[in-house]
Order: sequence, then C-alpha cells, then structure tokens
Amino acid sequence: MEPYRIKVVEPIPITTRAEREHAMADAGYNPFNLRADQVTIDLLSDSGTGAISAEQQAAGTRGDESYAGARSYYRFREVIADLTSYPHFFPVHQGRAAERILFSALLKPGQVSISNTHFDTTRANVELLGCTARDLPCPEAKNLDGDFPFKGDIDLVQLERILGEPGAGNVGVVVMTITNNGGGGQPVSMANLRAARDICRRYGVPYFLDAARFAENAWLVTQREPGYANVSPREVAEEAFALADGCVASLKKDGIVHMGGIVAMRDPELAKRCELLLIAGEGFTTYGGLSGRELDMLAQGLLEVTDPAYLGARAAQTSHLAQLVADAGVDIVRPPGIHALYLNAGRLLPHLPPRLFPGHALATELYLAGGVRCAELGSLYLGEIDDDGELQRPAPYELVRLAIPRRVYTQSHLEYVAETLAQIAKRPERVPGYRLVESPPILRHFKCRLEQVPADAR
Ligand code: F0G
Repeated sequence: MEPYRIKVVEPIPITTRAEREHAMADAGYNPFNLRADQVTIDLLSDSGTGAISAEQQAAGTRGDESYAGARSYYRFREVIADLTSYPHFFPVHQGRAAERILFSALLKPGQVSISNTHFDTTRANVELLGCTARDLPCPEAKNLDGDFPFKGDIDLVQLERILGEPGAGNVGVVVMTITNNGGGGQPVSMANLRAARDICRRYGVPYFLDAARFAENAWLVTQREPGYANVSPREVAEEAFALADGCVASLKKDGIVHMGGIVAMRDPELAKRCELLLIAGEGFTTYGGLSGRELDMLAQGLLEVTDPAYLGARAAQTSHLAQLVADAGVDIVRPPGIHALYLNAGRLLPHLPPRLFPGHALATELYLAGGVRCAELGSLYLGEIDDDGELQRPAPYELVRLAIPRRVYTQSHLEYVAETLAQIAKRPERVPGYRLVESPPILRHFKCRLEQVPADAR
C-alpha cells in the first residue's frame, strides 16, 4: 500500500472514442503531438512527471533565489555530498545537460564511450563530439522472456576483452546506466557494478554512473541480489555511488522533481573543466540552470526517494500492472522492473510486419481505445528508415513502453490501463498498421507524422 495519501488533486480528461480518433488524426498519429488535455492516463514518461510531497512544497517555499551562494544551494550540497560522496558536483537543468558537460570535458573526438546501454540523449551527446557510443548489454538481456534478475548488467567478458585490446586507449569512459532504461528498465547488480569498476581501474578508464534511477536500482538489489536482503536501499545507493569516479543524473526521475540534474566527479581537474562549461552554458556554479525553489525541492525529494516503504509500494504497483498485463495475454520484457513495463508488441501483433510499425500501432491503439498515451521502442524509433519513409533495417524488438510516473496514478488507474490493453488483446488482428508520411532526418519519433494502413492495403 502507498505510504501517503492525496491532498491536492488534478482532474484528468475523460474523452470519447470519436474525440480521440479526431485528436490522433490531427496529431498525425504521433502521441508526442497530442495535447496533454486530450490524454486520460499519461504513460509517456516517468521523467519530471512525479507528484511532489507536502515537504517538498514547503521546501520550495523556503527557496532562496539569490544569484550566487543561495541557501538553497547549500542545502542541496549537503544532501548530494552525503548521498554520493563525490567531492565535486554541479546542479544542471536536466540529465542531458550533465551529459553534454561531462563528455565535452572528458572525451576527445574519435574516442569511444562504452555502456551497458546508452540512453538516447547520452548516445547523442557522445556522438555530437565525434565519438562513438558502444553498448555491451549482458547476454541474458537478449532473451526478453528470461527471468534473469539483473538483465541490466554489462557484459564483463566483452568489456575486459575490449579494454585489453591494443588501441583500447581510445576508450574515454565507461558509463553504467542504473537502471538500464534503454534495456527494458532492468537493474544492474552490485556485483556487476563492482566487477566493471575493477576492470576500469585495471585499465585506467574513467568509470561513471548514469544514475537517473539510482533508488529504484537499489531497491531491486535489496530484493534480488544475494547478501543485500538486510541492507537499506539508501545504503545500497551510497555503495553504488562510492564505486564510481562520478555520475551524471537526470533528477527528474529519482529526485522526484519536475526539473533538475547533476554532474559529479572525484577528479578536481575534470571538475574545473566542467565548471567552465557549466557557467558558460547552464548558469553559475551554485544554481546551474535551476531556481532556488527547485534546488530545495530536489534536496527534499532525494531524502524521500530511498524510503523503503515508498520504493516497495512503487515496485508493487508495477508488479501488479505486470500481472494484469500477463492475465490479458500480453508479454512484457521480463522480469518487470519499476519505472516502466515494456510490452512485446511484435508478438501481440504478428499480422503487422516491422515495416508497418507494430509497436507504434499498439501505442496508438492504446490511445484510441482508452486515452492512454505511451510510446513505442521499436522500428519507428530505432529502425533504419530511408528518405522515402521505408524501413530498411528493423529494430531487434518491437516494444511499447508504459512508463509510470511517481506517486501520480492509483491502482484503479493502472487497472483501467490493463483493461484497455485486454480489450485490444482480445482482437489484436483488428489493429491497423502505419506508414510514415512525414519523417524529419533526425529525432524522427518526436516529430514524424503517419497514416493508417487499412487491412486490405497491407
Ligand atoms: N539517462 C537516462 C537513463 C534517462 O532515462 C534519461 C531520460 C536521461 C539520461 C536524460 O535525462 O531527460 O533529464 O535530460 N529519460 C526520459 C525517459 C526522457 O522518458 O526515459 P533528461
């Protein structure tokens, strides 16, 4: 049960099927183009979408908006120093700003960044510097149905092999994403974090965390990893931070704020280079693109997020939805993580080949059938598509992510989502495919427009 009750509420739009059909057609069948007031349950992202607590609201009121040296900054400083043990860190407006600053200060053109899986902005910030982003997910991650508890792990054998090769001096950083959002929201074990750290140490490669969901990773460690059953999530999180040379983190997730992030490190020289980039691009050292109000709310959110009662209730909510989805006959990337469920749309809609974007078709159908907004992680987002909008190389899987905002939806909201999915799953062959009619050369999935392909035109 949730360890909180609701004091402030916001109405959610209840719409008719006809209204949703109009809205989706106007949006070019792209859920990113919908207005939020056309959406009943919004599972597009768990980022910046959480509900703040009364204590956070109060902390925000205490925010000190002085340009430099605000009291809010010092409160934020104390919380971050305590949690992470990093001597140098800077607030930034969100995770991707942290990535841009860290990689610009750390990487030289031509270098390689290795990760269990780079998140898409992380990859983009590596590639924008003329570097290469290489993912080394563990072999168990390839089996979507397998119940290996730590499918977010990095492949240690490959990591060791690559760092041991001649020319490996070219590897500029290893980034461990906890939890592994690009890899099905799966956690990384402490054993894997430690072993990867040892390998990086041996070869002198900087070792960083992308710690956007550090508390959720810690919770799953306490539930799944031998030796951690009696360790608190807070202690696990501290141990994870202590293993690395620093971190980037979007705190819009486990900071439970609407905006915020950090970049942190042990190396004082690296910190100096980052600080210059911070001041030039984000803001002065003591605010880095955030208001005093946000810094104070963030400091409070970071104290709340490792509460075992909160994490346990959040994990239970996701597991409950996973069970309802399974009862509806829909497969997910197993085992369920915490921040999202990843539906196996390719398997549910075998009548749609990848060129008709089955993931996108399921995401769109969830909106048409019930006003549920979510996004695909399949060939529309990750496939290779030519200038005419034709799919040349499909993505390895056709998935749909149902991301669950923190402290926002109740059990009955999620039951409604599962019922909507169950309705679709009863007659999956009725779900139409889609073709691209407008496809920008970059950031395709955000801005593209599509049209339905009727069954007889497939
Ligand atoms: N790293 C990870 C693992 C993320 O999931 C995200 C954002 C970022 C970095 C970038 O952070 O958005 O604050 O700049 N993920 C969001 C999502 C957008 O919906 O998964 P940001």
